[in-house]
Amino acid sequence: MTPHKYFIVTATAPVNIAVIKYWGKRDEVLILPLNDSVSFTLSQDQLCATTTACISPAFTNDAFWLNGKEESLENPRIQNCLKEIRRRAKESCSSCGSEDDITSWPVHICSANNFPTAAGLASSAAGYAAMVVAVAEVYGVSGGDLSVAARQGSGSACRSVLGGIVRWYKGEQLDGSDSVARQVAPPDHFGELHAILCVASGRRKKTGSTEGMRRCVKTSLVMNMRLTSTVDARTKNIVKAIAEKDWSSFCDLTMSDSQEMHAACLTASPPVVYMTDTSHAVVELVHEYNRVVVKEGQPQLKICYTFDAGPNACLFVPAAAVGQVMSLLLKVFPPSDHCTLDTYLRGLPCPTPQLIP
Ligand code: DP6
Repeated sequence: MTPHKYFIVTATAPVNIAVIKYWGKRDEVLILPLNDSVSFTLSQDQLCATTTACISPAFTNDAFWLNGKEESLENPRIQNCLKEIRRRAKESCSSCGSEDDITSWPVHICSANNFPTAAGLASSAAGYAAMVVAVAEVYGVSGGDLSVAARQGSGSACRSVLGGIVRWYKGEQLDGSDSVARQVAPPDHFGELHAILCVASGRRKKTGSTEGMRRCVKTSLVMNMRLTSTVDARTKNIVKAIAEKDWSSFCDLTMSDSQEMHAACLTASPPVVYMTDTSHAVVELVHEYNRVVVKEGQPQLKICYTFDAGPNACLFVPAAAVGQVMSLLLKVFPPSDHCTLDTYLRGLPCPTPQLIP
């Protein structure tokens, strides 16, 4: 028996959390957004996706496993990512035309998240980013902008191929060639910052982002206002706040943008409801905490929240405030016996925390 050749690469990519939301597409196939967005990529050792890609002439077809379960490869998003990477591999291929033309070898891809999939925790962003990096490397694609390939899997994924604070430019070209992500600032730009994820539910969301944004673009007046007059100005302002290391303005703009996205959702028809009573209780807690720290003359301890397409809050908290904020959260939302880390990781429902009056 002749041994078969194979190449294998494993890559990880972290979740990114948008502070200026990508919400609305100008092209649903190429996944091109209607506005620029800005995000923080969490550090590699936190919530992340790990993907292994293996190519071999012994494989008869491409195959894909997500969290241990084989998934259909008919998904056009996965197909588009693979097509884009194989196209680039052929462009820079040294083995093409020879017996060892690796660009024609099928690929097997295994991906796993270390957190619940599709619970509004940007799992697709980390997943597609890790996949694109692993598949590109296994086919020998070096250099080039991988954000363009990741974007074709899931829009927000293009920001997860870079670290720190990242801006995804919506671009103007019809083919999406200028719709790329770029780093705006390194991870430690605002000093040591923590992201506290307040998981109100680890369940799969009711309305996926694609459908949620589509409905907002078609029917919401708030969305119309966002796209015609507010979001571009807010993006400009947050980029300025980042350049000036103005943490307080960064926090205010982050919270406004989250509120605006969810206001657009609520004013869509039928409404798209992601936030729950628990989410709103977290919002109230953050505003109350900020009122006190600002009154005490410590705006550098300010914190902010942002909500993606789900009920879970992500809080950005300066290191010096983490102890205080954590004890406040635990006091207001006491951990329930039924909601352990294990319950959450397995995506089971946790009882709604009760607010202590
Ligand atoms: C609320 O990137 O999941 O998290 O491109 O349709 O896959 P598709 O959408 P996706 O949407 C993310 C929306 C968001 C905001 C953001 O991350 O910018």
